[in-house]
Order: sequence, then C-alpha cells, then structure tokens
Amino acid sequence: MTSTSAGSISLGDGIELRPLRPEHADEFLAHIDRGREFVGRFIRLPDLVTDAGSAHAFLSGYARQAEADTGRLDGIWADGLLVGGVLLRSMNVAEGVAEVGCRLEPAAVGRGLVTRGARALIRWAIEERGIHRVEWRVAPQNTASITVARRLGMRRDGVLRERYLHRDTRYDAEVWSPPRAPGGSGARRRRPPVRDHRRVHRDPGRVV
Ligand SMILES: CC(C)(COP(=O)(O)OP(=O)(O)OC[C@H]1O[C@@H](n2cnc3c(N)ncnc32)[C@H](O)[C@@H]1OP(=O)(O)O)[C@@H](O)C(=O)NCCC(=O)NCCS
Repeated sequence: MTSTSAGSISLGDGIELRPLRPEHADEFLAHIDRGREFVGRFIRLPDLVTDAGSAHAFLSGYARQAEADTGRLDGIWADGLLVGGVLLRSMNVAEGVAEVGCRLEPAAVGRGLVTRGARALIRWAIEERGIHRVEWRVAPQNTASITVARRLGMRRDGVLRERYLHRDTRYDAEVWSPPRAPGGSGARRRRPPVRDHRRVHRDPGRVV
C-alpha cells in the first residue's frame, strides 16, 4: 500500500482507494446501477441513490461529514473503474468510535478489494483520527460481509435484535469489532490527532 497523491492510496494491482466527492456523482450512479440488485439485498444505499440528483446529494452529505470530521466515504477504483467503496458511516472522534461499511459491484467480488480497502480505512481512523473502537454491523444472513469482518481479525460482540428495517423486512444486526490490544483497557483516552486529510498510511501491515 503506497500513497500516490493527496488523499489517494494505492492498494497494489491497479487498485486505488480515494475519497468520493460530489463531482463523482455520474460515475457513482453508474457504479450503483451495476450493483443495484446485488448490493441492495442488505443495504439501503441503492434505494437512496436512484438518479443524478440523489447521487450528488448522497456524496454531498458525506463531503459535509468529512468536513465536520464525522465520517468518510472512499471509492475503490480497479484499473480506473469505480467498482466499490468503504466508508465510515459515522465517526465520533471525541468518543473514539466509528462504524465501517462497504460494498462492491458483483464483478469486483472475490479479489480482496474490500478487505484491503477496509484495512486501509481503519488504519487511517486509528492512526490519523485516534479512533479506539471500530464497529462492523451486519445482518446475520450477510455471510460475505461477516467473512470480511473475520478476515479483518474482528470478533462478534453481540446482536442487536431486529435493529434494521430494510425493504419491509426487519433484520438483526450483529456487531463485530477488533479485539482490544493486549493490556488495553480503554480507560485511557488518547487525544485525537490534529486533522490532516492529506496524510495517508504507508505501511501495509495488518491493523485489525
Ligand atoms: C460484503 C462484500 C463487499 C464482500 O465482498 P468480497 O469480494 O467477498 O470481499 P473482499 O473484497 O474482501 O474479497 C474477499 C474474497 O477475495 C479473495 N481474495 C483474493 N485476494 C485477496 C486478498 N489479497 N485479500 C483478501 N482476500 C482476497 C478471498 O479469498 C475472498 O474470496 P472467497 O470469498 O471466494 O474466499 C460483498 O459481498 C458486497 O458488496 N455485498 C453487498 C453489500 C453489503 O452487504 N455490504 C456489507 C454491509 S454490512
């Protein structure tokens, strides 16, 4: 994993992770259209992004979150095509907690893109924003996502029963997170680092 330009991270093999911005609305909509059915089985995103206006509004919302330091939305580009993404749906720097999400269009699954992208994003949250606890929330039926959480070294904390209403079906939400570092009681709070969006991580080692 190497930095290529401001805010952009190369994950190797022609894979690049970089922030999705409102100016990507058309590209983003085309990506969502290619994955609409597959991605929409468990997540709401395709139902929120249905045309150019809603794509722009969705990306603008995350741009505001990034500006406010309360979230982040990155795209995954493979050989120049936007094929997926990883995001911090929420981030509370003062509390040191964040929730990670992800998606891929069907043609991009099975290549480790989200595992690598999520690892990079989580490393950024921990190292650059001082996040202590990262959560991965997933329906028990979403075995592909649970496998990614496992691949990231996470463990299941528990289940929020009937937490999500999606397309008229109520789903449980499993909560996964990385185990605490040895000796890390979480009692000591680290001061969040000063924000600098241009900083990217250089070490490809595991973070979770
Ligand atoms: C969840 C989702 C992103 C998982 O996609 P995925 O392709 O299985 O995940 P990854 O990109 O991490 O790829 C892992 C696969 O690539 C393979 N792989 C290849 N190279 C790899 C590498 N360098 N590192 C990790 N895995 C690699 C793995 O063996 C695995 O394949 P397998 O499942 O056949 O064993 C996808 O199913 C999806 O978009 N679902 C719909 C949206 C959704 O539900 N999002 C999650 C909400 S909680």
